[in-house]
Amino acid sequence: MVNVVLVGCGAMSKAWLDAARQIDRLAIVGLVDLDADRARARAHEYDLTGAVIGTDLDAVLDQTRPDAVFDVVVPAARRQVALSAFAHHCHLLTEKPLADTPENARAIVKAARQAGRVHAVVQNRRYVADVRRIRRFLDSGAIGAATSIHADFFVAPHFGGFREEMAHVLLLDMAIHTFDAARYMVAGEPAGVYCQEWEPANSWYRQGSSASAVFDLGGGRLFTYAGSWCGAGFRTSWEGSWRIVAERGSLIWDGHDVLQAEVVAPGRDGLFDKTQPIEVPPLDPADRVGGHLGIIQDFIRAIETGTEPETRGADNIKSLAMVFGAIESAETGRRVTIAEDAQ
Ligand SMILES: NC(=O)c1ccc[n+]([C@@H]2O[C@H](COP(=O)([O-])OP(=O)(O)OC[C@H]3O[C@@H](n4cnc5c(N)ncnc54)[C@H](O)[C@@H]3O)[C@@H](O)[C@H]2O)c1
Repeated sequence: MVNVVLVGCGAMSKAWLDAARQIDRLAIVGLVDLDADRARARAHEYDLTGAVIGTDLDAVLDQTRPDAVFDVVVPAARRQVALSAFAHHCHLLTEKPLADTPENARAIVKAARQAGRVHAVVQNRRYVADVRRIRRFLDSGAIGAATSIHADFFVAPHFGGFREEMAHVLLLDMAIHTFDAARYMVAGEPAGVYCQEWEPANSWYRQGSSASAVFDLGGGRLFTYAGSWCGAGFRTSWEGSWRIVAERGSLIWDGHDVLQAEVVAPGRDGLFDKTQPIEVPPLDPADRVGGHLGIIQDFIRAIETGTEPETRGADNIKSLAMVFGAIESAETGRRVTIAEDAQ
């Protein structure tokens, strides 16, 4: 049995507890929130009558001595939570983003390494069937190597709460999913970025609701991202809307259920190379999916088998480096080099 203390009982904790109760060999032994009523409400809702409730993570860890911490707090509190978890010799699974600054990200990954604990991030939008299918299809070479990746993200939610106050809200709080998916789909090695942020007149965020970025993903591959968190109308999927251009064809995915590819065929139609549809194969049984549940299962398996999970912090920090590179570029107005070793 893996005993877990969950810290941060806000909106997102529901997704974690829904997933956790589907895993028999996992027990929630503590619930922590600055607001004790929230922790108590979750305990009641999920019938966790035996769980210790508290407002101070250190105190609850001292009392319960769990194997792992589930960190579902706001990004600004992540470093403190992570260091406390590792100081108590706990494995740590954390919500995205891994950290709120490059320094904090490096400090957390370093602390995990020094503690010798499993540290992983819920980067759940790569645990999506069509993201896995795209990666396999591109790896198969059916349309040649990818040369450019394009993602649009236009979703306009009224969350309230910390997002409306934080800086670089789109890049730091949401774009990490899209950047991570792009890096994964083409096995990219981010090398540089140019980015601009802007605040539309109708924005209800303090700063950074909208951004456009161009990344160099290595190997001559470009990734363009255009996104807004206050552009109402023609809403895209939460996964974004994608076009991937390759040497011998292209692929489009609407982020919902339309995933199509065309490959270049012999001959021309006037000015244009002929193309024909080509099937993107279904999900491979070996592909790991399932969002939060899939990631939590992989995390538990990694603890039990002494292996490293796919979304380990030491790798996820490379996706986060895309975010911080984009932020730096937006702030300075210059292209920013993304360090090869993000750690
Ligand atoms: N993976 C996803 O798809 C996804 C979706 C939404 C949010 N998130 C992430 O989940 C995290 C939480 O978001 P949310 O929407 O639940 O926020 P929220 O504000 O609803 O909840 C956060 C909770 O953490 C508590 N908290 C803050 N600092 C704390 C501390 N030091 N100790 C104990 N409790 C503390 C707050 O009191 C609050 O109850 C964020 O990092 C967010 O980016 C991920």
